[in-house]
Formats: sequence, C-alpha cells, structure tokens
Amino acid sequence: MKIAPSILSADFASIASQIGVVEAAGADYLHVDVMDGRFVPNLTWGPKVVADLRKVSRLPFDCHLMIVEPERYVDAFREAGAGIITFHVEATPHAQRLLTHIRSIGARAGIAICPQTPVAMLEDIVDDADLILVMSVNPGFGGQSFIPRSLEKIRQARALIDARNPRCELEVDGGVGEANLREICAAGANVLVMGTSIFGATDPATELVRLRLLSA
Ligand code: DX5
Ligand code: ZN
Repeated sequence: MKIAPSILSADFASIASQIGVVEAAGADYLHVDVMDGRFVPNLTWGPKVVADLRKVSRLPFDCHLMIVEPERYVDAFREAGAGIITFHVEATPHAQRLLTHIRSIGARAGIAICPQTPVAMLEDIVDDADLILVMSVNPGFGGQSFIPRSLEKIRQARALIDARNPRCELEVDGGVGEANLREICAAGANVLVMGTSIFGATDPATELVRLRLLSA
C-alpha cells in the first residue's frame, strides 16, 4: 500500500518543513492538487509552485489536475517536475491522446473519475494509463466525507485493471482515513491519498506511520 499525503491540507506558511516531515515518515508520493476555479469551485496553484516545491523534496510528485483543457498544461507540469500527471476524463474529449502524450514526455499518466462517472468510461483507455484515480468525494475541497458507493467503484476498477493492465495503479482520493482505509484496501486500491487525515493531525509523521500500519 502506498500513501500519498495531499498538501492541500498542509500549512503553506511552512510548506517545506511539512513536506520534509511526511517524506521522512515514509510517504510514497506527494499528492499535489491543481485546481482552476472552473473544473472545480476552488483555486490552488500552478507550475511555478510545483517547480519550487520540487527543490525541497525527492518524493515523486503525483499531480492531480482538476482543470479544464488539461492538454494545455501537462507539459508545464512535467517541466516543473511532476512524476505522475493525472487528469480527469470529464475534462477533455481526447483522453487517450493525452495519456499517450504524458507518457511521451516522460511522466506516468493517470486518469481520474468523479463520483458521477462510471468505471466503464475507462474501458477503452485503461491500456494507456499508469494510474486510475477514483475520486471518493466531489473534487475541489479537502475534509469531505467519503461517498460509500465509491467502494463498489474501486472493486470495479480493480477488476478492470487486473483483466487489462495489471501494472496500472489504483488510487483513491477523498475522505480517506482510519475509519475506511481497510475497506478501501480490501476493495483493491493500492495508493491512498490523505490530506486531512495526515496534515490535520497534531503530529503528521506519527499519524502517517500509524495509518500505514492500519492499512497493512
Ligand atoms: C480534493 C482533492 C484531494 C484532497 C483530499 O478535491 O483531490 O486530494 O486533498 O482531502 P481529504 O483527504 O481531506 O479528503
Ligand atoms: Zn487530489
């Protein structure tokens, strides 16, 4: 099980040290949420911030693009140091082309689905993906509650991956924490994004280690 702390819930006044804490505690990826105020009703940061953060961490950056027309920005995020670039299938009409392009520029290519989108939307593109991201909340904000139906979608995505592209990772994002992470793992996820559960804790390092033990 891989753990990807989401810096959306971190304190940006001390972001370098917060990243250092989760890195030292054994995080596998750093989950970096990019929001444009159009695909989702919130704003975060662009490639400049990602490039600056790249200088203070050796973790692979797992960039989750919640933006319309992601094809306009993937090269900039790759240049900024993203190792995994994930965009939403709902955000572009040519997802297969964009997955292939992301791989061609040397990143791993991820495809995300919102709660409203069936796993079947990925059937014809799963072969071209390195990661499937099942959103278990409506994207845009940290600290929301896990939507229970997501468990069935994780099982469906696991079946699709096992049948078609077993090396593809299965990531779950939104409302993940102590109360549900065992079920999420049992349903077939192998990457857990956690924002509030880790950065909302008094001691994020101890909490990350504890949550990893619970997920094992
Ligand atoms: C939400 C983001 C998540 C967010 C999760 O749209 O994609 O990555 O940080 O936050 P928690 O873990 O608090 O639900
Ligand atoms: Zn995310």
